[in-house]
Amino acid sequence: MHAVGIVAAAGSGLRLGSDLPKALVPLAGRPLVAWSVDALRAGGVAEIVVTVPPGRRDAFAAVLPPDVRLVDGGASRTASVRAGLAAASADADVVLVHDAARPLTPPDVVARVLAALADGQPAVVPTLPVVDTTVVVDDAGVITDAPARAHLRRVQTPQGFDRAILAAAYAALGPDADLTDDAAVVRAAGIPVTTVPGDERAAKVTVAHDLETAEARVRR
Ligand code: CTP
Ligand code: MG
Repeated sequence: MHAVGIVAAAGSGLRLGSDLPKALVPLAGRPLVAWSVDALRAGGVAEIVVTVPPGRRDAFAAVLPPDVRLVDGGASRTASVRAGLAAASADADVVLVHDAARPLTPPDVVARVLAALADGQPAVVPTLPVVDTTVVVDDAGVITDAPARAHLRRVQTPQGFDRAILAAAYAALGPDADLTDDAAVVRAAGIPVTTVPGDERAAKVTVAHDLETAEARVRR
C-alpha cells in the first residue's frame, strides 16, 4: 500500500483572527502545518502534499521539510483538496486527507485509518462520541428535533480513502461544490464510509481558545 497525505492548509483562519494564514500560526514556536505534517509522518505516511494559500508558497516552503510538495489551494476546502489530489504521485493507491488545523493528532489515529484501508475499506474516518445532548433548531432558535445521541459522532481527520474512489468522487462533483469534509464527497458518490476511533488530541484549532488548549497540552 502506498499512501499519500494531503494536508489542507490553504484556509485563512477567519475565526482564529490572526494576521497570518491559520496554518502558519505558531504553536509552541512551530507553525500548525509543520506539526500536522509531522503527525502524518509519525503515523506512517511518507509522501505529503500540502495545499497552500495562493501566493504564500515561499512562507510554507521555509517551515516544511524539502520533500513536501506544495500546491496552490482554492477558494474552498473542497477546491483545495481537489488540487492536492491532482498533485499526488501516480503510484499512490490510498489517500489520507488531513486538516493542517489538527496539529496534535496522535500517530495512533493515523495508524488506525491506514489499518482500515489495508483491510480493504474504501473510505474511513476517525470519530468521537457526542457527549452533550445535541438538538436541531429552526430559524427562530426553537428546538425542532433531538437526534438520539448514541448514533451521533464528531468527525475528525485524517480521513482515508482508496485513491481511485476519492478521485472519481471528486470528478463527479460540480466545480463549485463546497462540502465540509471528504467523507461527504464520497458519500455523495454513494460510497459507504466506515469509522475508527478518533482522539480528543486530534481536535481542530478553530478559535483562539483551541490554540490556548493546544499550547497547554504541548507544555505538559
Ligand atoms: N482549508 C483549505 N482551503 C480553503 C479553506 C480551508 O485548505 N479554501 C483548510 C484549512 O487550512 C484548514 C482546514 O481546511 O486546515 C479546515 O478548515 P477550517 O478549520 O475551516 O480553516 P479555515 O477555513 O482556514 O478557517 P475559517 O473557516 O475560520 O476561516
Ligand atoms: Mg473554513
